[in-house]
Amino acid sequence: MPRQHAVAWIAPADATDEANVLGAANATASRLELVIVETIRGRENASEAVAAARRHGTLIIPALEACLPGLANGADLIEAARRDNWRVLILDIGADSAAWSGTLVVDQFRELAAATGADVEFPVPPAKMLRRVSGVRGQEFFRASGFIDTGVYLAAVREVGGSVTEPGCAILEWGAGCGRMTRHLIAAAPDARITAVDIDTDALDWLRTNIPIHEVIATGIDPPLPFADQSFDVAIVHSVFTHLDSDAQDAWLTELARVARPDGTVLISTHGQAALRWHVEHPLVPMAGAIGAALPSLGFFFWRGEGWEEDFHDGYHTAFHEPSYIREHWAQWFEVLDVKPGALRGRQDLTVLRPLTI
Ligand SMILES: C[S@@+](CC[C@H](N)C(=O)[O-])C[C@H]1O[C@@H](n2cnc3c(N)ncnc32)[C@H](O)[C@@H]1O
Repeated sequence: MPRQHAVAWIAPADATDEANVLGAANATASRLELVIVETIRGRENASEAVAAARRHGTLIIPALEACLPGLANGADLIEAARRDNWRVLILDIGADSAAWSGTLVVDQFRELAAATGADVEFPVPPAKMLRRVSGVRGQEFFRASGFIDTGVYLAAVREVGGSVTEPGCAILEWGAGCGRMTRHLIAAAPDARITAVDIDTDALDWLRTNIPIHEVIATGIDPPLPFADQSFDVAIVHSVFTHLDSDAQDAWLTELARVARPDGTVLISTHGQAALRWHVEHPLVPMAGAIGAALPSLGFFFWRGEGWEEDFHDGYHTAFHEPSYIREHWAQWFEVLDVKPGALRGRQDLTVLRPLTI
């Protein structure tokens, strides 16, 4: 088969970054049997990059926000590639204009770009922390995605009759990282008592110094949490059960059921079918399509092939859940009030739980 040509467009912040972004572009090119014939550098060279993509067929962008300011511009670029019949692969957000992931990212970026209210007054963490919580280095993505996700969680609390606006309402954010959602929780529930916990002490130090939150506590990889039974009205967990194996998940479900009040609401995000498809199609993620096909019969699948242990701990990888598995398996600890496929920007599912009172 003749090899296809591609162009890489990079805009690194420094020399180390340049090696990383070029490395990512080359890894993708070789995985997809593309040959990079031209490298375009610099944010200011958008039209040159697009012209080269028209000539050669494919444009690879390792880090979108570094190249192209404005989330809506990212969506426009994918749509332009589709219209003019060239292909754009945006690696940090996993978009391939020639695949379904391109549509998902266009929808997501339009939603993010339209999110008014995402600018709260707090500072944004440094790039290496952003990467750990959102997989991308962009500040715009960090701000807008945290705002939208927080809104989805709070709407789900209201839907089941809960509230976070009562003075003293106790909210636990388990696996808060550097506060991508915490900053918006504080803005939405100023009278609540918010406790953020994580195992990442760097992220928590940053949070403690930069965000006026009631309590920030470093916890262990395994339970228990340092809280009495029935301490919280609402527990928010975003993108943590998406990374733990089934033993860890069961242990943490037990623990979250213990610390939540009997009439409280526990909200947990998971990777369902949409996330699975995105992983299979991601230009940089070497996940076989056969894994995706197996999930409906397995119910739960833990995939160790992405290298996350370099950034987190040995047991931190990528988990996928079928809603039917959640409804059945999690019913040991909770009444499963709702499972909302793709509720979080089309990517993660959201499950709404109430602890069982035995
Ligand atoms: C993908 S990040 C999500 C962070 C945050 N919830 C958000 O949505 O931006 C996953 C987070 O889970 C944390 N984490 C992983 N295992 C954990 C554990 N056993 N206990 C608490 N936090 C954990 C990581 O340190 C990281 O901050």
